[in-house]
Amino acid sequence: MAKNDLSKRDGFTSKFGIIAAATGSAIGLGNIWKFPYIAGENGGGAFIIIYLVFIILIGVPVMMSEFIIGRKAKQNVFGAFKQLTSHGFWKIIGIMGVLAAFLILSFYGTVASWTIEYLILAFKNSFSGKSADELATMFDTFSQGAIKPVIWQILFMALTAYIVIGGIKKGIEKYTKILMPMLLVIIIYLDITAITLKGGVEGFRFLFYPNFSLITSESIIDALGHAFFTLSLGMGVLITYASYFQKDTNITNTSISVAGADTIIALLAGLAIFPAVFAFNAEPAAGPGLVFMTLPNIFELMPGGYIFSILFFLLLAVAALTSSISIMEVVVAFVSEEKNISRKKATIFTAIAITITGILCTLSIGPLSHIKIAEYNIFDIFDILASNILLPLGGMLISIFIGWKMKKHIITDELSNYGTIQLKFVKLFIFLVRYLAPIAISFVFVHGLWDILIN
Ligand code: PFF
Repeated sequence: MAKNDLSKRDGFTSKFGIIAAATGSAIGLGNIWKFPYIAGENGGGAFIIIYLVFIILIGVPVMMSEFIIGRKAKQNVFGAFKQLTSHGFWKIIGIMGVLAAFLILSFYGTVASWTIEYLILAFKNSFSGKSADELATMFDTFSQGAIKPVIWQILFMALTAYIVIGGIKKGIEKYTKILMPMLLVIIIYLDITAITLKGGVEGFRFLFYPNFSLITSESIIDALGHAFFTLSLGMGVLITYASYFQKDTNITNTSISVAGADTIIALLAGLAIFPAVFAFNAEPAAGPGLVFMTLPNIFELMPGGYIFSILFFLLLAVAALTSSISIMEVVVAFVSEEKNISRKKATIFTAIAITITGILCTLSIGPLSHIKIAEYNIFDIFDILASNILLPLGGMLISIFIGWKMKKHIITDELSNYGTIQLKFVKLFIFLVRYLAPIAISFVFVHGLWDILIN
């Protein structure tokens, strides 16, 4: 038996489990850490509307496309395109996916290490009695250091690798079912406390009042890139997960549920953060540290804040873990399949390599912050390359594959579960994947590349 025999991969035990795993991949640091900070940098309301339009018109159809490909082929991203087409060109989706996964997990590990530190600080009750300025300084001092962030990053990557080696599906299924709803409850509690803050209304307004004059072409690129990032699209994660879908999984409904849950968590996170930003006179465009600087202010004020701060950072770390597992899986599947080495060796090799590039990202906040291309440090460059270029490009190719290459009857078979459910939006779906998604994404892609070249 080949070392990487596909039949040996463990499967999901329930329909809910698969959806939980896809949701677990989608909901992560992207929702709670990245969404608020890029919404803040891009002026709030108008950016959010553009982001929502991208989620609905491009994100959901591309997600459906990944699900169709994965369930039809029943393989990871490489095997899938090998099976569905004889043309070698489509392999490029897998290769770009591996590169994107590598870059994303590098900076994801940096932010995950911040989460671990904040979990420890929450345990030690270190936020208590600190002013907003002191909390901001606390974040800067820690994140610009060299030792602690790197140690936490190594720990996080080791944990991710350990779960990936040990059979990820059962673990993910067991934990996401309980932990994701818990995360939702805590965020709602944070929201309630945040909105009642003095100045809270201003945050609400920032989040929902669209001021389109603040939108630049870069904001549009950020919005599309983030739609892909937050839904885990464009690099084959959801193709792999869909290979475990059951015959009766409803692809359209699942896509809408995953995208809906993901969007709700992001908006609720924004609703907790921006009222606090304004109430405590913080800067909405504070960048990647935004969440870590603002939320502790709210914990200090809310009843039971000590316990909730611990729970929040614990759940955030878990949400990061369920996403990072899915990212590492893409690289591991590639390494073990292409090099025909065991899953365990492939994971260890992958984890070590990503930890090394990840440490560069972590150090680029502090000791290596002088290394820049234009105004961007290594951390930003990895993010821009992956989120704004590789993921949209991968998504564009996936939608072209479904819109132009896949036989129509396969699409209708997959969407209707071989005629057992009524087809509702097939024409609209085909239009979106054939025309709208590729055109809109190529626009963003060209701009992304242009931005990098002229900067
Ligand atoms: N969707 C994850 C988040 O929002 O945190 C990040 C992510 C996971 C991106 C998996 C890409 C991916 F393939």
